[in-house]
Amino acid sequence: MKQKIMVTGGCGYIGSHTIIALIESGKYDVISVDSCVRSTPETMSRVEKITGVKVKNYPVDVCDKAAFFKVFEENPDVTGIIHFAAYKAVGESVEQPLMYYRNNLGTMMNVLEACEKFGVKHLLFSSSAAVYGDIEKLPVNEQTPMGLANCPYAHTKQICEGMIQSELEANKAMDALILRYFNPVGAHPTGLNGELSPDKPNNLIPVIMHVASGVLPQMTVFGTDYNTRDGSCIRDYLHVCDIADAHVKGMDYLVEGRYSKRCEIFNLGSGNGLSVLEMLDAAEKVVGKKLNYVLGDRRPGDIPAIYADSTRANELLGWHCRYDVTDMMESAWKWERFINS
Ligand code: UD1
Repeated sequence: MKQKIMVTGGCGYIGSHTIIALIESGKYDVISVDSCVRSTPETMSRVEKITGVKVKNYPVDVCDKAAFFKVFEENPDVTGIIHFAAYKAVGESVEQPLMYYRNNLGTMMNVLEACEKFGVKHLLFSSSAAVYGDIEKLPVNEQTPMGLANCPYAHTKQICEGMIQSELEANKAMDALILRYFNPVGAHPTGLNGELSPDKPNNLIPVIMHVASGVLPQMTVFGTDYNTRDGSCIRDYLHVCDIADAHVKGMDYLVEGRYSKRCEIFNLGSGNGLSVLEMLDAAEKVVGKKLNYVLGDRRPGDIPAIYADSTRANELLGWHCRYDVTDMMESAWKWERFINS
């Protein structure tokens, strides 16, 4: 029989791609809980178009404990939760830290309480490579100690990881995986689902695509004097569908009890660092034109280079990236044209 999985933040970028992957695996039934303050309920129509399956979204704020718990009364057969619902903008978290602590810790608290109260056995948590802080030794593996968080957003992820570890000491009936994402980018290969970025996006790929489509007139490469091969920052970009696939494999791993500890941590990255200028070059090849960018100053808070050692996820989850940088750009470009058409 199929297990029923609740995805919090299911109308969001990674949440919706994960729902698609869960459905396509044929092993899981899915419900979504998303208030859509940072997403849109239309995402579920996109999911339906791609999979042919109608997924129910409960328009509930996970911070609202009473409303959130009510979803379990209707769905007492939920056996696993994949918890995405959180705010994720680094700059905003610096400007409004308390909003980040209230939301990201509040949603986590209610998810853990729900697991205890309703006997949910499996939890996957959406964490971030941001928990490592400013690292010096590359690549980053899961033994790399957490550094000082360089923004409240990263700090909330560190605290949430700690909350899960502590709760699992007490709640012996559950198991969990903490998934630390590097830089998820791209869109569904159909171009029908992708990231709904703000009008003025901060992340590199949405900015590049907005410049390519003319939504933005120009962009800046933040820093070309770093000690890297071409002077621009290096990051570990991976396709959102690969991230989604890791969640299916992660849930399988918990359901099949293949772990050696009830809470395990996995980095999710391609293991391949690419510079901003290399990303621009890949984008120009895909969109077939020169992009209007200028070389500018460093962005405060950026680290020169970070990329993952994902050996653990490769070996234990049997997870490998299927998409390369061209696939990332092609899908992002299809999505950009779809939303602007
Ligand atoms: C950031 C967050 C990370 C979060 C991720 C996705 C930090 C330290 N980390 O990662 O926690 O999970 O976003 O939301 O903030 N760049 C340009 N020009 C632009 C935009 C970006 O050159 O217009 C460069 C940046 O300087 C950086 C690279 O592109 O070197 C990637 O930036 P971005 O997409 O914002 O991701 P991160 O900063 O790596």
